[in-house]
Amino acid sequence: MNEPVIDTATAHSARVWNHWLGGKDNYPADREVGDHIREIFPGIVTAARADRAFLVRVVTHLVREAGVRQFLDIGTGLPTANNTHEVAQALAPESRVVYVDNDPLVLSHARALLTSVPEGTTHYVDADMHEPEKVLAAAREHLDFTRPIGLTIMGTLGHIADDATARSLVRAYVDALPSGSHFAANDSTNTSAEVVEAAEHWNANSAAPMHLRSPERIEEFFDGMELLEPGVVSVSRWRPDTTDAGVPEHVDQYGGLARKP
Ligand SMILES: C[S@@+](CC[C@H](N)C(=O)[O-])C[C@H]1O[C@@H](n2cnc3c(N)ncnc32)[C@H](O)[C@@H]1O
Repeated sequence: MNEPVIDTATAHSARVWNHWLGGKDNYPADREVGDHIREIFPGIVTAARADRAFLVRVVTHLVREAGVRQFLDIGTGLPTANNTHEVAQALAPESRVVYVDNDPLVLSHARALLTSVPEGTTHYVDADMHEPEKVLAAAREHLDFTRPIGLTIMGTLGHIADDATARSLVRAYVDALPSGSHFAANDSTNTSAEVVEAAEHWNANSAAPMHLRSPERIEEFFDGMELLEPGVVSVSRWRPDTTDAGVPEHVDQYGGLARKP
């Protein structure tokens, strides 16, 4: 593996996210922007954690209830707690996971993602999600596209500002999946003044601008699929664990899970 060139001068999405999640894989530029955003919008840390907990509940549902054993995780982020393969393989060790990201730092940490249990597989693809043919060709080397696949695009579609482009990319990926596959996504939403201000600061100081969408725009990504209950909601309220007391706090991060008919 060639040593990737890492731009440490500008804040990068995966690294700032890692900082909010309490990780160490970030640089001063990431911490500076991340801390400033946390001042404007203290809810970001809760949102980042709620986002990860949503991923855990989605993958758990897919393995336990839907019988899915293959995952394509686009916009992986830096390895943290409860990565997709860890959640899936803890429940079904034979699970196969393909991760896709285009950040060189994620690539340099990919080995940490490749710690599959022997019964399953984990692969990493260094690619831009704007190139679905390339991503799908690489995924086909490791996943069986005649059997259901769980496609997850978490916290990543907001990096594609144009709605039509984002929708057509989701369509390209979903179209490649067999019936019975599932698609889950979540993203930051323009549902509070603080998150809008935080996104403006982020966009002025980062390598990859984040485009906030309304919950309705996020729901459109699931068009043509069977959206599972409770639909597209604040991720903390998507099938919260029964141990959670009362209704979990709303976060400006919406997501859902749908089945391909
Ligand atoms: C906010 S992080 C989300 C990480 C993880 N999915 C999560 O929910 O915790 C967004 C990730 O998307 C990746 N990303 C952004 N644009 C991308 C693109 N065009 N192709 C592939 N990955 C991309 C970034 O490098 C980053 O790792």
